[in-house]
Amino acid sequence: MSRKVMVFIATSLDGYIATEDDSLDWLFKVEGEGDNGYSEFYETVDTIILGRRTYDWIMNVEKENFPYKNKKCYVFTRSRNEPNDYVEFVDGDIVELINSLKRVEGKNIWIVGGGDLLAYFFKENLVDELIITIAPTIIGTGIPLFKKQNIELELELKSVRRFNQFAELHYVKKEIIHRK
Ligand SMILES: NC(=O)c1ccc[n+]([C@@H]2O[C@H](COP(=O)([O-])OP(=O)(O)OC[C@H]3O[C@@H](n4cnc5c(N)ncnc54)[C@H](OP(=O)(O)O)[C@@H]3O)[C@@H](O)[C@H]2O)c1
Repeated sequence: MSRKVMVFIATSLDGYIATEDDSLDWLFKVEGEGDNGYSEFYETVDTIILGRRTYDWIMNVEKENFPYKNKKCYVFTRSRNEPNDYVEFVDGDIVELINSLKRVEGKNIWIVGGGDLLAYFFKENLVDELIITIAPTIIGTGIPLFKKQNIELELELKSVRRFNQFAELHYVKKEIIHRK
């Protein structure tokens, strides 16, 4: 079985991954349990893919302490290419990159986000499984996890877990339908 492309992400109950000004304060104040399944998931991946805005957000919060040092990291951007110890900036064909990663053996591939890059992954049918952790918060507006697109993604619910106030839903892709 080839390695899978996984979405592992937290959202508000109304489906936003951040406020419009990139705040996750609403998320960090929720009472979870342990690390809400993070380290268990992190062990299952060896490759990480980020959009440039998500990468900038992480660097801004973590400063010098890049959190994914022991993984192969790709950041998609059309505006950056300066060298970096931890990530490779890429602006090529995403489908080709994913296919080439899947041709070699390895652990799963984590697409961290954000919404812009994820929309492309959904449209191109690149996502195999989604683990969505829902905060018990409605934030009204923000950066959506799912952008408006003419697709219907049929999923199978694999498991449901609770981490105190968080609900985790794990889905496996069944079929994608591209609407006209
Ligand atoms: N709740 C969570 O668990 C979670 C997880 C991840 C992210 N987030 C939040 O999501 C927000 C960022 O999301 P976002 O949707 O605004 O941005 P994003 O998807 O992280 O990044 C968008 C950028 O990625 C690059 N990009 C996108 N598609 C590309 C393609 N096909 N080829 C080459 N480059 C491409 C472009 O970079 P250039 O402009 O450089 O060309 C684009 O501006 C942040 O606030 C972050 O904190 C939350």
